[in-house]
Amino acid sequence: MIVFLIGFMGSGKSFYAKGLSEYLHVPFVDLDQFIEENQDISISEIFEKLGEPSFRALESAAIKQVYGDLMARTTETQEKNHILGIISCGGGTPCFNDNMEWMNAHGLTIWINPSEDIILERLLKEKKTRPLIASLSDDALKGFIHQKLLERKPTYEKSTSVITHHNTTIDEFVNTIQHAKNLF
Ligand code: S3P
Repeated sequence: MIVFLIGFMGSGKSFYAKGLSEYLHVPFVDLDQFIEENQDISISEIFEKLGEPSFRALESAAIKQVYGDLMARTTETQEKNHILGIISCGGGTPCFNDNMEWMNAHGLTIWINPSEDIILERLLKEKKTRPLIASLSDDALKGFIHQKLLERKPTYEKSTSVITHHNTTIDEFVNTIQHAKNLF
């Protein structure tokens, strides 16, 4: 079984993917990083040179490829009972091309959903590498986060489980995953 970590930019997906991977002794893949390595170009450059629709197409193909690669490493018995890998998605991944439905059909989706203030605090420090927010002023960023989250919430809410506290420990996160496994 594969765990897909979803949530807004700055929600902590990469942080938890690394922590869970170490704790559970399973591989993790950061989808953005996978796309950058595969295409040999940064996410910002993909947006700039090819446009967002091309990025979204690459992103949808990438989830399926990464999922296939992780599943290929395993046997059928393991597949049913164990967490085999963690995929850290981009913030928009679930919201395009029926990716959310596809992920829910193929594994557990865990929505990391800290407060807007926490997201803002983190993104203010990391704006430049994210094409959707790189050109926004600090003031505009707050409104952008609020608006985009409102748009994306109905999709994020389709997740198997939610993590709401920004200081959730890896132990607690694993408990949430175990509970989510019973819902699958
Ligand atoms: C995006 C989030 C980014 C990256 C791209 C688009 C989004 O990933 O995929 O810049 O649409 O929210 P992170 O959530 O890892 O920053």
